[in-house]
Amino acid sequence: MCGIVGYTGPQSAITPLIEGLRRLEYRGYDSAGIALGTPDRLYIEKRAGKLVNLENALGESLPEVHSGIGHTRWATHGGPTDRNAHPHVDNEGKLAVIHNGIIENYTQLRADLESRGHRFDSDTDTESVAHLLSDLRKKHGGDLSAAMREAVASLRGSFTLLAIHADQPEVIVGVRRNSPLVVGLGVGENFMASDVAAFIDYTKRAVELGQDEVVTISPSGISITNLDGAPLQPKEYAITWDSSAAQKGGFNHFMLKEIFEQPKAVADTLLGRLNDRNQIVLDELHLTKEDIQGLKKIVVLACGTAFHAGMLAKYAIEKWAKISVEVELASEFRYRDPLIDSNTLVIAISQSGETMDTLMALRHAKASGARILAVCNTNSSTIPRESDAVLYTHAGPEIAVASTKAFLTQVIAVYLIGLHLAQLRGVMSDLEVKSVFDEMVELPGKIEQILETVEPLRELTRGFAQSTSVLFLGRNVGFPVALEGALKLKELAYMHAEGFAGGELKHGPIALIEEGTPVIAILPVGHEHGLDEKMLSNVQEVKARGAKVIVIAQEGAEVTGAEHVIRIPIAPAIFQPILATVPLQVFAYEMAVTRGNDVDQPRNLAKSVTVE
Ligand code: F6R
Repeated sequence: MCGIVGYTGPQSAITPLIEGLRRLEYRGYDSAGIALGTPDRLYIEKRAGKLVNLENALGESLPEVHSGIGHTRWATHGGPTDRNAHPHVDNEGKLAVIHNGIIENYTQLRADLESRGHRFDSDTDTESVAHLLSDLRKKHGGDLSAAMREAVASLRGSFTLLAIHADQPEVIVGVRRNSPLVVGLGVGENFMASDVAAFIDYTKRAVELGQDEVVTISPSGISITNLDGAPLQPKEYAITWDSSAAQKGGFNHFMLKEIFEQPKAVADTLLGRLNDRNQIVLDELHLTKEDIQGLKKIVVLACGTAFHAGMLAKYAIEKWAKISVEVELASEFRYRDPLIDSNTLVIAISQSGETMDTLMALRHAKASGARILAVCNTNSSTIPRESDAVLYTHAGPEIAVASTKAFLTQVIAVYLIGLHLAQLRGVMSDLEVKSVFDEMVELPGKIEQILETVEPLRELTRGFAQSTSVLFLGRNVGFPVALEGALKLKELAYMHAEGFAGGELKHGPIALIEEGTPVIAILPVGHEHGLDEKMLSNVQEVKARGAKVIVIAQEGAEVTGAEHVIRIPIAPAIFQPILATVPLQVFAYEMAVTRGNDVDQPRNLAKSVTVE
């Protein structure tokens, strides 16, 4: 939800700022803007629409300036217009602010500032911070860091803020509360951004910031303080992603690249997870046998695609570790009275590690005494930092807004947790665990096989481009896959799509079927309860009412009633979601391309949802 970047150093600032914004555009793309650190009065340019509109507006004759801040927006307060785009400036045009998040008490702030003579030019919550900082900087004799500390103390909500002032343009001050901000340490230059992807071409050294920490950067160094001004020691870490991961590498879209990266992402997430004594190695969970003995239940919290990974966690953990698992949408969790205590393990799943709904649910669970385990793809992000333990997925940076490789690695991660718990609880023998793990190790090769044969599926997809609605059916572990297939299609193709448990059809959804309605059914082959036959009956039911049915089934499985069959390699039922999801990702991707949609940046969405 909004990407922010700051640069100070010897380079012409426009290059790292625009490159950084391009890398952060996945976070929001309603409008974009920059403030360059020109003395006397800042150079500001901002435009509604994608970054390219800003680039076109900048033209050739830019001032040669060595510091600045940039913003790409996902609108919350105030529509996506030129005047609401960030940066926002004070009335002298000397101080500029960019912001990711929401200032909850901005109405009061604005009224106070207006009564003191400040003139507002936008409908945003952010602008009040620019005016407030302007006053406070004067009060603190030109010290922007001190002004930021005092300003933040009076703000409510979630925010990352960066500010720059024309009188000391080489200095940029930032602060974060519940929104991400990282510092990049260069040689004679320093950076700030929502995500390391913004400056990964320039440095691999990063510093993480805690809640309510104020950071001041200049070309010669950085300093961090708390809100009382007490200095804090920077916590440096090395960035392990390389910049090629943040480029399209010959693919037309990041999403397609990321779909094709899935074999490696899954393999990397499995790497080193079984030792030579056939034990699952998840030392980072820090769970002792005593912890496990006290464990009464597991609650999984997540949103969107990550929630579907959570649903699969329930099937696997209950099957293997024989412990009760509840899965809940993070956005709903804290608005009831969940029964959790110190005997509950909460697993918070999040690719970005910044999703506000998940973060708030996590905090609620923590306050009730639960132990929190994060499953996350983004190093040092807020959710892992606030958890008791973290299991990182190794998907690499996911740039496309629609989640693909992160999802598969989330499923792998929660499956590993299930096997680990099964071992610690003595429910599965080491040899049983090994044989399951051996099946998992086969998955990257099987995903590869699917990807090698997607062309006919892409062609088939194009034939459905005029459909108004697509339904997805699944049973057992195929049910979350159906939900995920529908979610991908909605967000990318802007089509009505719904996923159903096959058994629910007759309880209502079958009324949606009309002549020609495409229905995609995921056949749960080899399931111990013989569900494949039941699903094939569902296929017949919708076919009899005019549906055009595509069945996803493993090789060799007998399929009746389908117009088209998409084959996936043979795997035990519990692993079929990892394979069956891939054709559905390709289906949604191809549909979006055919319908002329922006695949990597679908309308109204943003990658990292840092507002509730
Ligand atoms: C869908 C998608 C979203 C995210 C959801 C949670 O393709 O990407 O539904 O899964 O916003 O995001 P994270 O995993 O970052 O918490």
